[in-house]
Amino acid sequence: MTEIRHLGHAGFVVGHAGLRILIDPWFHPAFLDAWFPYPDNRALLPEVVEDRYDFLYVSHTHEDHFDERLLGRLSRDVTVLVPRFRSHGLRKRLNRLGFGRQVLLGHRETYRLGPDTTATMLLDTSHKEDSGLLLDLGGYRFLDLNDCNTPMSELPDGIDLLAAQYSGAMWYPNAYDYPPEAMAAKTAAVRADLLDTLVRKVKLTGARAYLPSAGPACFLDPELDRFNDRAATIFPHWEDVAGAFADACPDTEVLRAAPGDLVDSPSEPGSWATDPAGYLAAYRERRRDEWEGYHRGQVPAVDAAEVAAHFARLQRLNRSLLADYRRDLRLETDGTVCALPLGELALRVELEDEPVDPAYTIKVPARALRAVLDGRAGWEEALLSMRLTLHRDPDVFDLTLLSLLRYGHQPAQTRQLVRERTAAAGQLVERDGLRFQRYCPHAGEDLGHAAIADGVIECPRHHWKWDARTGRCLSGGSLPLLVEHLSLEGPVG
Ligand code: FES
Repeated sequence: MTEIRHLGHAGFVVGHAGLRILIDPWFHPAFLDAWFPYPDNRALLPEVVEDRYDFLYVSHTHEDHFDERLLGRLSRDVTVLVPRFRSHGLRKRLNRLGFGRQVLLGHRETYRLGPDTTATMLLDTSHKEDSGLLLDLGGYRFLDLNDCNTPMSELPDGIDLLAAQYSGAMWYPNAYDYPPEAMAAKTAAVRADLLDTLVRKVKLTGARAYLPSAGPACFLDPELDRFNDRAATIFPHWEDVAGAFADACPDTEVLRAAPGDLVDSPSEPGSWATDPAGYLAAYRERRRDEWEGYHRGQVPAVDAAEVAAHFARLQRLNRSLLADYRRDLRLETDGTVCALPLGELALRVELEDEPVDPAYTIKVPARALRAVLDGRAGWEEALLSMRLTLHRDPDVFDLTLLSLLRYGHQPAQTRQLVRERTAAAGQLVERDGLRFQRYCPHAGEDLGHAAIADGVIECPRHHWKWDARTGRCLSGGSLPLLVEHLSLEGPVG
């Protein structure tokens, strides 16, 4: 017998032929006590802790998947299915928690869990470290993609149940200081892209049923309440997108499961679906002690020298990423402004008398900055907390800077990014009278699946767009695409 129970967010307990598999259980606040599971799933915590499992799978190190407090309470008598990432961060953290029995699985590697049960690992093969898992349960194929973007060309098909994200899990655009009109337009564009990506995943996998999962979370700290606005953010409710999804995927059954539900017999949605404001007010009170934790205690002062030393170390660790890079970052924290010349060039050039004209300004509360400087959080966690505010001018995504912040402490990831940039131009694909680089310069998506229309090439993953004539990046980022016209035979961009 096969049983899949939803634990809320991206969490599941899968039972099949006597085996029990625990997936991404998340119960405690994440990212500087900013994110909480939505709807509240805490009632399930005691039984999840008490239960025994044969296998545990944690898809990646984001705290809404890697819940250290919960993992610390589980029996270690379990085999962990661990994605074989380039960096060893996830493996080491599991080791530190005492999970010594680990099966490392690379991209598309399959492991037999039982006589008729297998698990196949699917990685985000770019510099990002995230994973999904395909479980074959006696012929029933459950694909848990949570928030992982495996290249579209490598998604499995014949899927009975797909669990994947439909809502955002990113600080862009809502943590930026855009004026209301620009914010509304950017939010709408991201939401449309998220739905488009989901629809593609459903179609490519042939999913018979889809379970909305891996978000949105909610923000119980009153300081962050504006991010619970499901209409104005990239964190919609399923009900906000259900109609458009049904139009695009009319043959796919949607299983709207609440925490604790067996996915094939979901309960009626509770007050969380109909009364979010009242629901959140009560939830906020129940967890007051937890979200107040972020504000508790004095914050030791942050001085500019400490910030400069932090960034000097990041730069030393990421020399290959920063070769020929030269940008200024402005960091504003309660009362202190730090102008940080970044890049390998900045290390070589005397900048002291130069005016600073930063492309990016980040306003970071001293409390969050202290957590980063003390190593209790990375910049990725701080950004995801939505406690920071960003400004950029020009309004162009800087992949190098954001990668330095997000992955700089794990240089295996930034080295991979450099390799991707070099390799991206190496392989070409031919379509629609064009020959262009096969792998996206952003994060390596296979552009064999790109949309090409009206002279624009669009990546199916994060929807960067390029001029098909010149290869110039039109939106998303700033990196060009190598494009040749087959009739002309020669690079035009
Ligand atoms: S992989 Fe991100 S836009 Fe292509």
